[in-house]
Amino acid sequence: MAKIIAGLGTSHVPAIGAAMDHDKTQTPYWKPLFDGYGAAREWLAETNPDVVIVVFNDHASAFSLELIPTFTIGVAPEFQPADEGYGPRQVPVVEGHPRLAWHLAESLILDEFDMTIANEMPVDHGLTVPLSIACGQPEAWPFKVIPLAVNVVQYPPPTGHRCFNLGRAIRRAVESFDEDLKVVIFGTGGMSHQLQGERAGLVNKAFDTAFLDGMTGDVDRLTKLSHTEYLREAGSEGIELVMWLIMRGALADDVKEVYRHYHIPASNTAAGLIVLENQP
Ligand code: DHB
Ligand code: FE
Repeated sequence: MAKIIAGLGTSHVPAIGAAMDHDKTQTPYWKPLFDGYGAAREWLAETNPDVVIVVFNDHASAFSLELIPTFTIGVAPEFQPADEGYGPRQVPVVEGHPRLAWHLAESLILDEFDMTIANEMPVDHGLTVPLSIACGQPEAWPFKVIPLAVNVVQYPPPTGHRCFNLGRAIRRAVESFDEDLKVVIFGTGGMSHQLQGERAGLVNKAFDTAFLDGMTGDVDRLTKLSHTEYLREAGSEGIELVMWLIMRGALADDVKEVYRHYHIPASNTAAGLIVLENQP
């Protein structure tokens, strides 16, 4: 049987990927952020998953406003880094796990989550930056990846509560797969940030800290946050945090916080990372 053993939440700020790609991680601006990633990378290398389900959002790279699926699962053998206007990032191709991905698609749809199925999907910074944060700069990503994209760009995005329940359904789906696989799930995006308008640059450390605390303390409260609360407290892009609730829903009720890192600023945002392990 396959099993989800742990989760990792992380921001996906494109400038973090650019700092790595352009060898800037040791500059005074970036060093304090990257210093905090070492422990998470060591944890992931030791955990050594076979497959990572990366819950992320597309930023008008694979999908445009012509087609806005709420939840999409990538079932392809590989996913190319997207060209976001500066050429694709020079990072390894993302290798999929079609057999597990199709099993998830079938199980989730029969469990009444209407997934869109992607046979082809270029993956933008929403997915590649978390891989870089978690793995550094390897020749090839050290595990297979199942991309699960969530619409958080065009209102109405799904509620945090629905995302949490999708996480639960993902857990059931993984546990009904016939092969022994060690699975980790990433929730990506956030933390508080707003990229445009009068409040551009908004960061709310108190909100972010309470969100990180809630991952182990009071998930119920987090699943009840409304879209308006995200908008008001965490800025227009803070809604990306609903994707962390899919990750949290896929874990056991009782989880242990293994590690966290929180740093301001990373570009216009607060960058957060948390590692959670199921309690045996
Ligand atoms: C930026 C873009 C993002 O998608 C994000 O989640 C955070 C920051 C940016 O352009 O700075
Ligand atoms: Fe984003």
